[in-house]
Amino acid sequence: MKTICVFNQKGGVGKTTININLCAYLAMNGYKILAIDIDPQGNTTSGLGIDKRKLEYSTYDVLVSDVELKDVIKKSDLVENFYVAPSTMELSGAEVELINRNNREFILKNKIESLKDEFDFVFIDCPPSLGLLTINALTASNSVLIPIQCEFYALEGVSQLINTYELIKKSLNKTIEIEGVILNMYDARTKLSNEVMFEVRKFFEKKVFDTVIPRNIRLAESPSFGLPIVLYDDKCKGAEAFTKLCEEFLARQRRE
Ligand SMILES: Nc1ncnc2c1ncn2[C@@H]1O[C@H](COP(=O)(O)OP(=O)(O)OP(=O)(O)O)[C@@H](O)[C@H]1O
Ligand SMILES: [Mg+2]
Repeated sequence: MKTICVFNQKGGVGKTTININLCAYLAMNGYKILAIDIDPQGNTTSGLGIDKRKLEYSTYDVLVSDVELKDVIKKSDLVENFYVAPSTMELSGAEVELINRNNREFILKNKIESLKDEFDFVFIDCPPSLGLLTINALTASNSVLIPIQCEFYALEGVSQLINTYELIKKSLNKTIEIEGVILNMYDARTKLSNEVMFEVRKFFEKKVFDTVIPRNIRLAESPSFGLPIVLYDDKCKGAEAFTKLCEEFLARQRRE
């Protein structure tokens, strides 16, 4: 079982879009997948058509009480092999509630460990911040997947992102690695997109996936229908890109 967190403290770069769609394609390829939503916005949760009002427990309960992940995990009605640990707004209170708790950075790690080897891959969708929720995700993960949006400020947050990663690697999680960097919202027609791509490849070198995710309106629409792109429009450019990304991701796993 490999745990990967989708991490970038910058908002709106495509963490959730990548989390939902890469997970969906991996599940369709026969891998048993758990997507953990550790973002109070709950976009992975709603983007997979889960009704937050009907939840008995969420990742909030997992973090602040003795509720286990297996008690909150929902099997997706949409895709075989796909399971979700949903979140709600309630989770935004967890950081404060845990302020005096011993080993508060390790709560998620310990809860994931109690799943044993139930899943092939566990993906964690991080919030756009560097608080305790993100620290729990980074501490619990074997690797980080970093989405970068192809826009002017793309590289601005990267040094902070690397600092956080290095800090975690030095202290809470010595074995964490960079799984890869994914360029998102790429527009081949613009000089800017190509410049960002060049800079990101220069900086992260081989860590950057060859597959880039284009800006594609269908990808933006699908969460409002509670569907991953493969079920919303499996012929669009966005779906094509995620099919390729999934293949490349799996090829990299085989090489490791
Ligand atoms: N490749 C794309 N093409 C078009 N729209 C996209 C693409 N990727 C993401 N979006 C849209 O951009 C917005 C931000 O994406 P997303 O929610 O995945 O980012 P995020 O990093 O998870 O944001 P947050 O930091 O708020 O959690 C969403 O409305 C999403 O639908
Ligand atoms: Mg998100």
